[in-house]
Amino acid sequence: MKKIAIFASGNGSNAENIARHFSGSSLARVSLIVSDNSRAYVLERAASLGIASIVIPRRQWREEAVTVMKVLNGYAPDYIVLAGFLSLVPPELTEAYAGRIINVHPALLPAYGGRGMYGDNVHRAVVAAGDKESGITIHHVNEKYDDGAVIAQYRVSVAPEDTPETLAAKVHELEYRYFSQVIEDELRKLSGE
Ligand code: GAR
Repeated sequence: MKKIAIFASGNGSNAENIARHFSGSSLARVSLIVSDNSRAYVLERAASLGIASIVIPRRQWREEAVTVMKVLNGYAPDYIVLAGFLSLVPPELTEAYAGRIINVHPALLPAYGGRGMYGDNVHRAVVAAGDKESGITIHHVNEKYDDGAVIAQYRVSVAPEDTPETLAAKVHELEYRYFSQVIEDELRKLSGE
């Protein structure tokens, strides 16, 4: 049974969805939720789901990669999922987990990626630009924001009457529909299935 650690900074609706997806699986289980924000709602979700959670403050992600690695190694996850995680993952970690760390981004990368482009900022920018479509990008994680190799993209049309809020809802729907399955497919590939 593979152990998945989910990193999340805020609400954690994706984290909960992924945890539920794997709760009856014989392949993997979400065994840990890691946040960089002690007030994140994802920590309450973890408690209700009966999943262990830890907080590693934002400063440590920036300045103390060794501590981050030590704490995480104590839980020995096999696979890491970023689901609305806003700190940059240190290179020590992306190297140690190369091919075993995945992110979902709420736009069609390389558009609307990079530092500062997260959550509602992305949807505001897409609506302001008048784009006709948006979507999600599921990708491997390297030492830069939103830069690793793309695994899959899913699209949704943006209507003239869409607001950042309605677009966010459409994009979340795509995330709930596809992200867990892509994670499962990646885990099967890693297990040689
Ligand atoms: C998701 O839409 C995710 O794609 C986005 O944050 C949201 C988190 O929602 N991630 C990023 O913007 C990362 N660059 P959730 O906390 O309800 O899962």
